[in-house]
Amino acid sequence: MATKVSTEILIMILNNVQSTQDLHSSLLVNRYWCKVTIPILWKLPLGQEYCTNDKKLRKKALCIRTYLSCMNTSSRTLLTQFGLDLSSSPPQATFNYPSFTRKFIINNLVNFISLYSQQIIIGYNCTSNYKKSTRSKKIFREICKLIMNRCSFLDYFELASVPEKFSINYSDSINSIFKLPGAPKVFKKLESFIFEYYEGSFNELCEPLKLICDNILNMDLKLSSQDQVQPLARFINVQKRLENLSIVTNYLDCHLLLWGIISQKETLKSLRLESVGLNWKSSIGQFISLQELYIRNCGLHKSESLSFASSFTQLSSFHYFHSSNPYKYSQEFVIKVLETANTNLKNICLDLHPTITFDTFSAILNYCTKITKLTLYGLSPEQAITIFNNDFNELRRFSFDCRGEEFDANNLLCRMAKNVSESLENIEIRMGIFSADSLRKFFEGWCCKGRGGNKKFIVKRTELARLFILSNEHFKVIEEYGVQFDMERMSIENM
Ligand SMILES: *[C@@H]1O[C@H](CO)[C@@H](O)[C@H](O)[C@H]1NC(C)=O
Ligand SMILES: *[C@@H]1O[C@H](CO)[C@@H](O)[C@H](O)[C@H]1NC(C)=O
Ligand SMILES: *[C@@H]1O[C@H](CO)[C@@H](O)[C@H](O)[C@H]1NC(C)=O
Repeated sequence: MATKVSTEILIMILNNVQSTQDLHSSLLVNRYWCKVTIPILWKLPLGQEYCTNDKKLRKKALCIRTYLSCMNTSSRTLLTQFGLDLSSSPPQATFNYPSFTRKFIINNLVNFISLYSQQIIIGYNCTSNYKKSTRSKKIFREICKLIMNRCSFLDYFELASVPEKFSINYSDSINSIFKLPGAPKVFKKLESFIFEYYEGSFNELCEPLKLICDNILNMDLKLSSQDQVQPLARFINVQKRLENLSIVTNYLDCHLLLWGIISQKETLKSLRLESVGLNWKSSIGQFISLQELYIRNCGLHKSESLSFASSFTQLSSFHYFHSSNPYKYSQEFVIKVLETANTNLKNICLDLHPTITFDTFSAILNYCTKITKLTLYGLSPEQAITIFNNDFNELRRFSFDCRGEEFDANNLLCRMAKNVSESLENIEIRMGIFSADSLRKFFEGWCCKGRGGNKKFIVKRTELARLFILSNEHFKVIEEYGVQFDMERMSIENM
């Protein structure tokens, strides 16, 4: 029976199976299923999410045994000469396992080797830490060689600083991966490049990568030092079809990165910048594909940021967060973005320290008339009411809080009731104690009795109301109108 499923369909189905446990069961169906499942299962070992459960981790680390079995005699002899006992991984693997690797997270390999080597370093308990580390590093090198040699291509590669517990510095070994003969073939089709606080020599890493990978779609970069900025900017600059770019730094001056970002203005769909210092004076042109812009705690200076803001003409989603931090936020930048993207904007989320100014608020009312999802933190109750009165006829979801101010929640509900649009489906408010009566008034304004099924009302309690619980009266009202209701508990750290 099972063999009747065509190979393509079976591959499609199994590609969507998320759990390794289920894939393991499909290995057991018959030889044919096994042959199809193995390549899918072996995409994963080095590409999994980090897991802290020690028992699970040890089980996952067993992939090292299989990689050792796949090595040729010269690699195995080399490792044996270095004091490793390979008798638990005999040299005959049924499949070419390393060839199936698609996702490669360096830290997984380092982590698995560190665990598995405890079993194969001869005399582990009386070996010095230094020797243990050198041996682990030898295994690391041989496995990297094996993968670069056998794998046809990788689509996901993640490079992060190796935790200190692996005392020896891995950066040389990591840099040397890109110089292996198989590297150009393996990295040519790379789609996702994730990079986090790596401390190795930067130019050495980026120069070969730049020559090999120019087809990346997703880049996620976390930078920790100024000397990483320029090499990464160059690496971004050579990309031909970059769609998602995320850059997080610890308040570095990223003037040069901006130059890399601008080079991708034709293809970028989503741009995320966090704690980045940017200055740009000259004109930029349009980011013709950019739909999502997410900015958090970035330094954007008034006059210089305006040409940047006016390049986002197609934006449909704009998130801007600014808490108190070393940078000042530019109200002019926010307003210019709203003005430029105008009715293309469907989703806005603003959290500006200390409040949303009058001018920014007016810009939302004036320009963003086609908005469907609006989230505003730090509004005054007056501003909240203004949103209800402004006839955003496509607005489906509105979330807000009135920060730093205890206002009368009953009064707010009654005023909202007067003019809440029927088309609004989802309202989320942070507020204090309110009566069942006010809730009824508000629901009455929003929908007919029993007709609130497609509506959802979420209340987040303010500090003062953290002990407030709903009475039976409240529950009766909620049931009568049929609105989905949720009151979120304050989490401990918020209390
Ligand atoms: C053995 O495999 C390694 C990579 O794993 C490769 O570099 C080396 O050339 C191979 N040696 C032989 C003799 O095939
Ligand atoms: C870009 O990111 C979005 C959201 O994270 C994701 O849905 C999309 O698939 C990514 N694009 C590519 C090309 O992977
Ligand atoms: C209610 O909202 C409409 C637009 O949706 C507006 O024209 C009207 O002035 C508002 N009414 C009050 C009492 O504010």
